[in-house]
Amino acid sequence: MIRAELRPRVAAFTSRRGRPPGLAVVLAGHNPASEIYVRHKLRALDEAGCRAQLVRLDAAAAFTEVLDAVARLNTDGAVDGILVQSPLPTEMGAGAEQRVFDAIDPAKDVDGFHPSNVGLLVQNRSSLVACTPLGCLELLERAGIPLAGRHAVIIGRSNIVGKPMALLLLHRDATVTLCHSRTVDLPAVAREADILVAAIGRPAFVTAEFVKPGATVVDVGITRLDQASEVERLFPAGHPRRRQFQANGSLLVGDVHPDVEEVAGALTPVPGGVGPLTIAMVLRNTLTAAENRA
Ligand code: GUN
Repeated sequence: MIRAELRPRVAAFTSRRGRPPGLAVVLAGHNPASEIYVRHKLRALDEAGCRAQLVRLDAAAAFTEVLDAVARLNTDGAVDGILVQSPLPTEMGAGAEQRVFDAIDPAKDVDGFHPSNVGLLVQNRSSLVACTPLGCLELLERAGIPLAGRHAVIIGRSNIVGKPMALLLLHRDATVTLCHSRTVDLPAVAREADILVAAIGRPAFVTAEFVKPGATVVDVGITRLDQASEVERLFPAGHPRRRQFQANGSLLVGDVHPDVEEVAGALTPVPGGVGPLTIAMVLRNTLTAAENRA
């Protein structure tokens, strides 16, 4: 497992520098999904022997408080990585997130969202790349899925997943199509894919008609369903996921419809697919940032 593989690097850094690699996560507000992501990130770093600290800000905090926290962490020598969890409270305004990402020291930008890191990725000389697409790539490579010359179709053009995913696959010599809400006949375009990445954030949006038989499908989406009718629409009577919903009162599902399993050559599960890889990449990027800074 990747996190175990990284432990010797953590130990080597710690003995050389006299301190562990450090990550600071800034969390503003109480978005339930963010609470879970952040908890997993902090725990993974902690278990790997890093120093993980949480900077918590109230939902009603002023935007300048986020910028102040980032400024303080930028100059803190024991902090190698800074991650401001998205989304920020909507009250902070539309451009708030990018302004915060712009304010993070690029050398500590473990999310790879700073424009200089994005630019380096475009030119294929990156060092810190967004964790979710990086995790998807790691997953494909570890599964031995050939990328060079293959047609990769990505659905979703976000700065966090779709765009960096397209660039990473392009740099592995895939032929890349980046689709979005205005793409004409999306199922037909998706059906051309040898590798299909779904990153739209709409539960079960990618149905079997989107998938060429045998294609590799990477499901990045994760949505919590809390209505029985939604779960019943996706899973037939007697399906184990229905029982799971009944036991927990909610169910996590991806962007890919369960029927795709019958068509795809390989399909990443939700939960337990891309999510844990993303967490592992936060750890890897923190180590990379720490080593580069030292
Ligand atoms: N929100 C959802 N995914 C991410 C991510 O990769 N990084 C940050 N900072 N926020 C997120």
